[in-house]
Amino acid sequence: MGLNPYDTPRGRLHRLADISRRQFLLFMGILAALAASLFGGIKTLGFLFPNANLEEPLAFTVDVVPDAITVGNPLQITEKRVSIIRDDAGYYAVYLVCTHLGCTPNYVTNVTSGTGVADDVAKGRGARQAAEQIPNGWACPCHGSRYYIDSTNFYGPAPRPMDWVDVQYSPSGKLVVDRGKLVVQRGAGVTTKPEWRLDPKTKKDNGKTLP
Ligand code: FES
Repeated sequence: MGLNPYDTPRGRLHRLADISRRQFLLFMGILAALAASLFGGIKTLGFLFPNANLEEPLAFTVDVVPDAITVGNPLQITEKRVSIIRDDAGYYAVYLVCTHLGCTPNYVTNVTSGTGVADDVAKGRGARQAAEQIPNGWACPCHGSRYYIDSTNFYGPAPRPMDWVDVQYSPSGKLVVDRGKLVVQRGAGVTTKPEWRLDPKTKKDNGKTLP
């Protein structure tokens, strides 16, 4: 009759250790399965309830009083990528998204500098007083595109003018810009000077959208 190797004090100890190891491995397996289901569940819930609040609203109220925006001195709201310009006909708002690759162009008071474009041509586009000799506009810091103050591109790789967005008076007399509503959108090669304006006297826009 053969000797049972477990039927000794040492063998019994080994058997106990074997059982404990098996239980430990089983326990770890269950734990891993539970963790995987929990992680998957949280991910699924994330898809079901997307965090929509991370999106910034497209409309915003301008803190500066409208009369503080004067002819030849546009208001730059860089963090919102909007500039509000006033000329003799009223206000308009340019959405500062370069039409090349989407950088934010900077406002400059010498937009024709280094481009070879005549100042007279640039001044004819917009908001500068006749006494101010140097035309203003925007220069894109990424690849050098330039835009007249009416947002028409004239230099660099930008393929078309920047868009204009809606600006209106709120009931309290402040300006409200809505970047979700385009009032002027021009295609490549379109240099027509837009006529859309918000009239500070009537406090209404003239409805002359483009195209
Ligand atoms: S993104 Fe403005 S010129 Fe390229």
